[in-house]
Amino acid sequence: MGSLYPLISAQQQASQQLQRLIESRIRQQGRVTFAQFMEWALYEPELGYYERGSPIGPDYLTSPHLAADFAQLLAEQIRQFWQILGCPSGFSVIEMGAGSGQLAWDWLTYVQASDLQFWQVLDYRILERSATLRQLQRERLAVFMDKVSWLDWEGIPDNSVTGCFFSNELVDAFPVHRVQVQDRALREIYVQMGERGLQEVLGELSTPALQQYFVRLGIPIESYPEGYQTEVNLKALDWLQLLSRKLRRGYVLTLDYGHRADRYYSPHRSQGTLLAYRQHSSHADPYVQVGSQDLTAHVDFTTLEQVGESLGLGRLGFTRQSSFLAGLGLIERLAALSQATADIGQVLQRRHALQALLDPMGLGGFGVLLQGKGLTDKERTHPLRGFREPELTS
Ligand SMILES: C[S@@+](CC[C@H](N)C(=O)[O-])C[C@H]1O[C@@H](n2cnc3c(N)ncnc32)[C@H](O)[C@@H]1O
Repeated sequence: MGSLYPLISAQQQASQQLQRLIESRIRQQGRVTFAQFMEWALYEPELGYYERGSPIGPDYLTSPHLAADFAQLLAEQIRQFWQILGCPSGFSVIEMGAGSGQLAWDWLTYVQASDLQFWQVLDYRILERSATLRQLQRERLAVFMDKVSWLDWEGIPDNSVTGCFFSNELVDAFPVHRVQVQDRALREIYVQMGERGLQEVLGELSTPALQQYFVRLGIPIESYPEGYQTEVNLKALDWLQLLSRKLRRGYVLTLDYGHRADRYYSPHRSQGTLLAYRQHSSHADPYVQVGSQDLTAHVDFTTLEQVGESLGLGRLGFTRQSSFLAGLGLIERLAALSQATADIGQVLQRRHALQALLDPMGLGGFGVLLQGKGLTDKERTHPLRGFREPELTS
């Protein structure tokens, strides 16, 4: 109990420091886009949310933190990718945004114990933006040091990767622009200094890419009801461009919460999807506890697909996490639990975790998008264990 208060006050201090820093920058340079504000709130060195350590646990739980089965089934799918490519003697698995390193730990532990041939040809690389989380991952994965390396995009030569890029809840952590319909035109939400601190103000679009985003989707956003707000994830487009440049032959697997564009940008979803998370609850105010709360927005999977296609990343499948994991054997794992002889408390806990991974209203409802590049027709059309269900349309 004694140590709780210093911890809380250290967090509050860091939050106040970040708030002051952001305010002074805005005073000096004038209003900034919401995307810039979100960038500072999440990634400001030492003070931003993801730079302060692993939030996963205290604030929210991601799939890898519920049960090792998530990483293990992901490994099964990625191993099938390797087999489809003809079991090449060099295969890179590149995890982007590895958080606490939990997924990597479970993934590597499982493959090492279950498939020596795959283990020997594989190199596991991590692309992690946060210096603090990189350090945490290094400590956690110390026993796998000869298998894992950390790198940045510059460290990957163009057209060099044979293997699989994958991410879980990465794209939702990219800073987003926010836009609003006003007088039948699209305007952008900026953050400026008001009398009582940070406040939002509407202005011209900071880049034509925001308008083009909706033109590409064929969404007549200017005709939406006055006051309609939503987000645009331009960083996801830059990210796809990098991926497509680096990948020579293989797959991009993206798991995240989100929708197809017609649902995401439905005129009825008039307040967008931006949420702040702290201590397992969510709310819509990004300007409180700056740096002590996560900020995320849903992912528009249609744009990932369309832009991916234009960059040579062909779409191979889109499903929900529940059917992805079911196709890879999660239902059988659940069923086997009824025969389990282990401690009843542990069995119930595990059952609860596996059910949560499948829950269509929660993690099971996440989207799973698979894209590929440099594949032959036979490789492209090969049945995939995680993508057996009919295609999702919304
Ligand atoms: C919501 S957490 C998810 C962590 C982990 N994948 C999980 O499922 O538990 C987002 C992660 O992506 C990282 N991240 C955000 N932007 C990134 C970028 N551009 N490149 C690499 N990592 C990034 C964050 O630092 C954090 O580790």
